[in-house]
Amino acid sequence: MELFRPVSIGTLKLDGNLFLAPVAGYTDRSFRSLCAEQGACFSFTELVSAEALCRNFGRYGIYPEDFTRSRGVPSECPDAENKKKREIHSSAVSLIRRGEKEKRYAIQLFAGESESIYKAVCLLSSMRPDAIDINAGCPVQKVVKNGAGSALMKNPSKLGKVVEEAVRASDECLGGIPVTIKIRSGWDSKSLNYDECARIAVEAGASMISLHPRTRTQGYGGKSDWSYIANLVTRLPVPVTGSGDLYSPEDAQHMLTETGCAAVMFARGAIGNPFIFSQTRSLLQTGSCEEASFSARIETALRHLEMLSADIGERTACLEMRKQFCAYTKGMKGGAALREKAVHAGTIEEYRKITFEYQELI
Ligand SMILES: Cc1cc2nc3c(=O)[nH]c(=O)nc-3n(C[C@H](O)[C@H](O)[C@H](O)COP(=O)(O)O)c2cc1C
Repeated sequence: MELFRPVSIGTLKLDGNLFLAPVAGYTDRSFRSLCAEQGACFSFTELVSAEALCRNFGRYGIYPEDFTRSRGVPSECPDAENKKKREIHSSAVSLIRRGEKEKRYAIQLFAGESESIYKAVCLLSSMRPDAIDINAGCPVQKVVKNGAGSALMKNPSKLGKVVEEAVRASDECLGGIPVTIKIRSGWDSKSLNYDECARIAVEAGASMISLHPRTRTQGYGGKSDWSYIANLVTRLPVPVTGSGDLYSPEDAQHMLTETGCAAVMFARGAIGNPFIFSQTRSLLQTGSCEEASFSARIETALRHLEMLSADIGERTACLEMRKQFCAYTKGMKGGAALREKAVHAGTIEEYRKITFEYQELI
């Protein structure tokens, strides 16, 4: 079987099996769009609180028709608010709206209760996502303390209920788009229950399971155990997507070969490196791939900045870009000096000047 191949997630047919994982603070619509340009076949928004969405849907740019008709535009409307609120609004919108070049994407929600999931999924109909993904892997305290994220794995029957309600909402309000779930291997090494959680999720109607085989206790450290992915593949009737330690095209090739998973999702390996998608496709299809040139990396970083700025405003985009710029220029000759200057850049013009001077020098 070809390693680069189409994947069907319920009714959703994807051309290929190279996905962009949800990464909070990075996978907003501008970055997802750049990854799609480079060949990401499917991507995920970062986790969004189902409860926050229900309480503050106007902030996310969602104005259900009946609401606006009966009560006027909600208070979070960008025109009606001060500058700070407008910035918060634009950032929230840029998280969940489809990117310009993005063909297929899923909105990821987290919830500790099934009621909020039902309402949140229904509210998302105007965004027209291709799938809804449930987060059952986030290790962060403020998420798990409410029973959401990886804490759902401590309560598999609740996890099943959350999936079930998301599927019901999708059937009733979103035309039955697939519901998927992303899990870890378990809460800690004494409770490795990924197979039980995956089975329950599938019984509740999940159309794909993504497995990041680290426990909640491991966080993002140590090594992910791909043997759990291989195990799950043999047990489930739905596609399994593998996540964990995918930093190069070769890593993706190894994961696909060693585990038999239907798809792989790049997370940290894609940050500042959207080229990893075209490179991996090339490696899988032709046996080799080329490094992205310095100028391609800088040109893409600048384009990323411009897209981000169009979404969230120049000032915030330039601040946000500092961490991204470090990733884009990692390993480049003279990169440290370039990054040192970039952390002081406050406008797009300043970023352009710094990178122009750098390119003249090397
Ligand atoms: C900074 C950061 C933010 C993340 N945010 C999310 C998230 O919002 N939702 C999610 O399901 N996983 C999230 N993840 C987990 C990744 O999607 C992925 O499963 C994990 O990083 C393992 O892949 P890697 O080792 O190749 O990075 C995040 C990871 C990192 C490092």
